[in-house]
Amino acid sequence: MLRSHTCGELNLKDINREVTLSGWIHKVRDKGGLIWIDLRDRYGITQLLIEEGRSDASVVETARKLGREYVVKAKGTVVERESKNPNIPTGSIEIDLTDLQILNSSKTPPFTIEDDTDGGEELRMKFRYLDLRRQPLRKNLELRNRLSIETRKYLDDQKFFEIETPYLIKSTPEGARDFVVPSRMNEGQFYALPQSPQTFKQLLMVAGYDRYYQLVKCFRDEDLRADRQPEFTQIDCEMAFVEQDDILNTFEGMVKYLFSTVKQIDIPELPRVEYADAMKYYGSDKPDIRFGMKFVELNDVAQNKGFKVFDDAELVVGIVAENCADYSRKQLDKLTDFVKKPQIGAKGLVYVKYNEDGSFKSSVDKFFNQEALLSWAEKMNAGKGDLLLVLSGEKNKVRKQLNELRLEMGERLNLRDPEVFAPLWVVDFPLLEWDEESERYHAMHHPFTSPKHEDINLLDKKPGEVRANAYDLVINGVEIGGGSIRIHDRELQKLMFKHLGFSDEEAQEQFGFLLNAFEYGAPPHGGIALGFDRLAALFGGQDSIRDFIAFPKNNSGRDIMIDSPSVIADDQLEELKLKSVK
Ligand code: AMO
Repeated sequence: MLRSHTCGELNLKDINREVTLSGWIHKVRDKGGLIWIDLRDRYGITQLLIEEGRSDASVVETARKLGREYVVKAKGTVVERESKNPNIPTGSIEIDLTDLQILNSSKTPPFTIEDDTDGGEELRMKFRYLDLRRQPLRKNLELRNRLSIETRKYLDDQKFFEIETPYLIKSTPEGARDFVVPSRMNEGQFYALPQSPQTFKQLLMVAGYDRYYQLVKCFRDEDLRADRQPEFTQIDCEMAFVEQDDILNTFEGMVKYLFSTVKQIDIPELPRVEYADAMKYYGSDKPDIRFGMKFVELNDVAQNKGFKVFDDAELVVGIVAENCADYSRKQLDKLTDFVKKPQIGAKGLVYVKYNEDGSFKSSVDKFFNQEALLSWAEKMNAGKGDLLLVLSGEKNKVRKQLNELRLEMGERLNLRDPEVFAPLWVVDFPLLEWDEESERYHAMHHPFTSPKHEDINLLDKKPGEVRANAYDLVINGVEIGGGSIRIHDRELQKLMFKHLGFSDEEAQEQFGFLLNAFEYGAPPHGGIALGFDRLAALFGGQDSIRDFIAFPKNNSGRDIMIDSPSVIADDQLEELKLKSVK
């Protein structure tokens, strides 16, 4: 071994020990007679000491040749430091060097390898292997590794079996576009990369592997955002002989186990909120419940008082921002501008200040007297000193807008602490969702999700009202996971395909393998998949998943380090019969 210890482990108990360390040159401070070197590896930084006159002349000579990121092997004795650094574990010692060898030189890196680097996003992506040397990224990957180990421990303990499923498959209907791979041996035909192992895990249930899991790569060709990558990882799970509660309990157990082992946080029982209530009280199917500010509907107290905007609205709804009655004109204008942004699209914002003296000042004083405004405040459970923010309009739209305003207020009032975690289940999702573009219903989760038994008779008349045995795991306003109880009955599955606009032939062609399998004793089953990258980012207190993936893609889906996607050679295209070269 080229080292006896790592750069993160030596301290006062090692004084006088002869050690050999290997690592990268982080920093060299040459003060004439004394040279200090910070040597770095993935475990930490250790200070090396060289003293001209006392240290070996060859050591001094080598030290003077060093540049940033050179790779060296350093031998010496652990000694106590004169000026200690309490911020790092090795801060009380240094290594008095007796030998120093350069193992490799390095070009000057294009950005500093520090916690706060001077490198821009693109540059860091291009030199990802250098960016990964930085402590914050190393910590993220360490957290990801810990999470994967604990996930496997928990699931193994619960008798889950990790089984790999293929990557070269046929399209899976998760709602995004597929990435496809041409088949050389089957001219004109393509594999699709899995958007998830959904159909395979269901087949594994038919096969009798009643508890399956996999930490698995999934591929979706969709628009990218901070929490979306074209290839990402799921903790994908399926169970047989279970009902919805069994799945929720099993994975609630996993969430608690992960928080407790990885973050040392005890999570109380997860609230279960019906989808309809999540929309009504938070305007979102992934509510951030770290803070209150629940929606209060005001139609009965705010309509028919002569204010046309409200009178014409399907819904008048507001939130209470506690202790914000002292907001200035400027602050209120900013909030109005916020809701009027095209991405949010509200026409205006109504505010009511509940002043400390018990009086009200509102933007609609012309239409509502003090008594009327008091009735709003009472309905909203507001107190003196609070600010009421009210929007109105078409129900679904206004709920979405108020959701944005609620999150913005949560941000402004520091109610969204990344070190506070508030998980919940959102249950009873609608089975189908109307798609304006194709003018038909789509499966909200996927076509294998079972409708609620008591709602099946609505399928023909009111398909939009049928609820599904589908659920999401939401933490801090992020959709971390989603799953459902599946249909295991061939006839019901065929009926579902019909409602989704598939002809019998189309259903048979695309999903015949699953329908056929359902003829051979499919057990009742259901499952869930958690976004592993999202979980890691959440545990790391960040919104973006990119720095929790070693080699991510940028926002245009490119890996700019290896320069991919890229064109391929003509003969490769020809071999794949994608181009004929004369
Ligand atoms: P779903 O499509 O909800 O369900 O995906 C499960 C979870 O995967 C994560 N996720 C993503 N993470 C990063 N980048 C993406 N592009 C991306 N897309 C999804 C989310 C999401 O909650 N087969 C079903 C699961 C099941 O029914 O068991 C499925 O894939 O955190």
